[in-house]
Amino acid sequence: MTARDAAGVFDRGTGHEQVVFCHDEPTGLKAIIAIYSTALGPALGGTRFYPYASENDALEDVLNLSKGMAYKAALAGLDLGGGKAVIIGDPTQLKTEALLRAYGRFVESLHGRYYTACDVGTFSEDMDHIARECSYVTGRTVAHGGAGDSSVLTAYGVFQGMRAAAEVTWGAPTLHGRTVGVAGVGKVGRHLVTHLVDDGADVVITDVDPAAVARVQGEHPDVREVATAADLVATELDVYAPCALGGALDDEVVATLSAKIVCGAANNQLAHEGIEKTLQDRGILYAPDYMVNAGGLIQVADELEGFSFERAKQRAEKIFDTTKRVFALAGDEGVPPAAAADRLAERRMTEVGRLRGIWLG
Ligand SMILES: NC(=O)c1ccc[n+]([C@@H]2O[C@H](COP(=O)([O-])OP(=O)(O)OC[C@H]3O[C@@H](n4cnc5c(N)ncnc54)[C@H](O)[C@@H]3O)[C@@H](O)[C@H]2O)c1
Repeated sequence: MTARDAAGVFDRGTGHEQVVFCHDEPTGLKAIIAIYSTALGPALGGTRFYPYASENDALEDVLNLSKGMAYKAALAGLDLGGGKAVIIGDPTQLKTEALLRAYGRFVESLHGRYYTACDVGTFSEDMDHIARECSYVTGRTVAHGGAGDSSVLTAYGVFQGMRAAAEVTWGAPTLHGRTVGVAGVGKVGRHLVTHLVDDGADVVITDVDPAAVARVQGEHPDVREVATAADLVATELDVYAPCALGGALDDEVVATLSAKIVCGAANNQLAHEGIEKTLQDRGILYAPDYMVNAGGLIQVADELEGFSFERAKQRAEKIFDTTKRVFALAGDEGVPPAAAADRLAERRMTEVGRLRGIWLG
């Protein structure tokens, strides 16, 4: 990366508090830690280990992801700021104990301004290695006091958001008798299907991995399958739940969808700016992704207090109320729910963050 790219962090006007470049030549560690905000508490966000095409791509990603985490934590009512880290390289080639521990020392050097966790390319076992050099690690293995797989509460939170959207749309907080399409039945999607089936929904799924489909149909024989996400979008649906990759809602999808609600776990569902308005214009109620998929963050945040599944579940259940608040604000202020969610998150960062200015003597 040239000095000019790095200086670009300021020119881009991203509003980040701190961006740290970490390099340990013998292990090949090249990492960037970005702290967007600590207004509500220490910045928490996972470490993505990914073979970025360029260091500039890695910087772009970590800046966007860390900002997203600040909004997600704020809207989830957590006393956490937003941060994220990326390690540049192919984890299958580069990941070693020494590299992870070197990375841990850099995280430690921030003295708790940033807490790390798992993300794409990093796992609870990796967090255990990092924690050998660093106190600011969550998402650890159960053997080390960690909370384990976060997809259970992520799916639960998405289901709460969907119930809230159903109440706003049809007057009752249930998916009973509704047709729900779930695109991607991996860790989160699969648990979501169980909630939906238990609630009496008619569920249609798709996944590029036949084993994932077979597993769900093994548990729930009545769940139907269609071949592709495009086929699912074209199916007569009441609710569409993108639970695979980002960018699921583009112009073509929004133009095709018959669903009245979109509510799913995937991050960054809106393919481009303005698509939230297109959804609104088509009368489709969009439950903002980072609001409804906060269950995983709630879980790793709870681990910092000594994990209690019940307490974390109660917090994830509040996604129901938050979703209703966001839809109400969207109605009051005449903006799409995605904009209303951002406004609520920003308000909390400003109003609660401001309290740090009260001198405690
Ligand atoms: N796991 C969590 O706790 C969590 C928390 C917040 C957000 N998310 C987001 O939710 C989404 C799903 O996460 P996950 O943990 O279940 O991941 P996962 O990898 O376990 O599942 C994703 C599934 O989507 C399938 N898939 C990929 N491309 C597809 C396509 N084009 N069409 C249909 N299916 C496709 C995969 O085969 C896989 O089964 C991701 O966007 C993730 O970032 C996950």
